[in-house]
Formats: sequence, C-alpha cells, structure tokens
Amino acid sequence: MLSRRNPQLNAHGELIHLLSIEGLPRAVLHGILDTAATFLAVNDREVKKVPLLRGKSVFNLFFENSTRTRTTFEIAAKRLSADVLNLDIARSSASKGESLLDTIANLSAMHADMFVVRHSESGAPYLIAQHCAPHVHVINAGDGRHAHPTQGLLDMYTIRHYKKDFTQLRVAIVGDIVHSRVARSDILALATLGVPEIRAVGPKTLVPGDLREMGVRVCHDMAEGVKDADVIIMLRLQNERMSGAMLPSAGEFFKHFGLTPEKLALAAPDAIVMHPGPINRGVEIDSAVADGAQSVILPQVTFGIAVRMAVMSTIAGNLA
Ligand code: CP
Repeated sequence: MLSRRNPQLNAHGELIHLLSIEGLPRAVLHGILDTAATFLAVNDREVKKVPLLRGKSVFNLFFENSTRTRTTFEIAAKRLSADVLNLDIARSSASKGESLLDTIANLSAMHADMFVVRHSESGAPYLIAQHCAPHVHVINAGDGRHAHPTQGLLDMYTIRHYKKDFTQLRVAIVGDIVHSRVARSDILALATLGVPEIRAVGPKTLVPGDLREMGVRVCHDMAEGVKDADVIIMLRLQNERMSGAMLPSAGEFFKHFGLTPEKLALAAPDAIVMHPGPINRGVEIDSAVADGAQSVILPQVTFGIAVRMAVMSTIAGNLA
C-alpha cells in the first residue's frame, strides 16, 4: 500500500521510489548517505561487484541528454550485478507517436524491475510510478525544472565528506536558480539535514524571491552571497529552459556572478566549490576555480556512483 502522504514511501515509511527530496525524513537521507559510504569501498576494489541486484533488470530511459547521470546510473546498476538496458530514445517508437505510458507498459512486459527516468516534462516519473506494477521501482533522474533527487543526494554526500557536520554551514547556491531542478533538490536536502544558512545568489531574473518563504537568504550581489561561505554550488545558465532573454549577455553574467579566484577569496579559506555539471567555463565559472585546489567537481561525479548504488539497493529492498 502506498503512503497517502508521499507516493515514494510505503506504509512503513520506507523508500520504494525516489521521485523527489520533498517530504523525505532526515533519517531516510542519512540512511542513503551511510549506505553510499559502504559502496565507496566497493568502487576501490579490483572486482567492483556486489550481488544485490542480481537477476533484476534496470531500464535507463533518458528522454533528455545526459553525460554524468546516465553513465553513473549504468555503472552503479552493473556494480550491483543488475542487467542494464539503455533505451535509445531517438531510435525508439516514441518517435512514431507511442505515448510514454504505452512505452512503459511494453517495457514492463519485458519484466523490468526498475526504471531510471529523465524527462523534460516535470512530473513524468510520478506518472510512471502511478501506473507501473507494485514490484517495479522508479527513480527520477531529472524532470523538467522540478527535481533531480540523486544529484541532491550526491551533493549532500560530497558536503558531508568534506565538511562532516551540516549544522554549522553556510552554503551559497549561485547562478540560474529559477530553472534549476538541482537547486530545488539541494535546498530541500540542505534544509532537511539542518544547514542553518542557505543562500540563493544571482540576478533578480534568475532567483525566485519566494525562496525566502523556505528560509533561504536571497542575494543579488555576488560578494555578499559568497562572503564567508563554506560551500559554493555553482549552476550553469539553463538556456534550454529559458523563454526569452533573461540576461544582457553571458559575458555580463560572468562579470557579475562568475566565480573567479578573486570572488572565491571572499569565502571561508577552506570553502569547497561544487558544480553538478556540465560546466561552462568563462560563463559561470573561471577555469582557475574549476580546476583549482578548492574544486570538488570531479569527486562529486565519483561519489555519484556510490550514491546511486545506495538508492537502487535501498528501494529494491523495500516492498510497496
Ligand atoms: N548533473 C547532471 O545531471 O549532469 P548530466 O546532465 O550530464 O546528467
């Protein structure tokens, strides 16, 4: 039976799908981060396999482009010993007019156990979760501008790895926040894990003022936004989701909100710099920062494998 309060939890409060960070208790988030820590050691072994999903079929359905998320989900599923199928959406019958739910019904008839879904429409993974059989699990790999929960979790894993304690941190999220599913997932996760100061930094056109209602400090000045921050999460301009010009130019954006060594020097001396990728050098981040000593952008990608292993093994172990 599905929980009335949250479609991703069963009646015992256990995770059966991962659709959003919204409504997930702190204990569930810590449980996934703790499980991911055990999988990090698997990734360092010569034989990088555990049998937790042996005999299960994981279908990767990426209706939108991806480098990091699709690949790390595939690696994670293979390290859990699952059979992995990557549907080539461009060559699939979606191009002949087949509906999303008919595609899902047909893949379910091939005995799918888990769908990993990226879609440009917010809510598509929820729709799939509502219509698939009770034993099938759904993971949202990014839907529209709504949510990217595994990115949120791997970002939390990265912060915990470098900073240990969430309850003493100032975290600045900088850039195109209004179009960002990552920002939304990060803010929800940071708040749930007890971060006392979350800042949203960017021009007025790209930072929604209603974030203040979630306890987020909104800053339209970069120097104020990054001052004494312990963690800076940079976001790219999501031009594919913008309707009309929201900025004078990319160069103007970089001048005011691009993270340069000079602006990074305003943060705490041991601040870490994060970015979900893909990065746009010279637009939101200077190469000297992206490749610098405080950047943890590539470790984020590595941690993403362990975090996605943790999510898949956790939900596969829980019954609807
Ligand atoms: N961070 C992220 O979602 O990257 P991809 O679009 O490459 O998956």
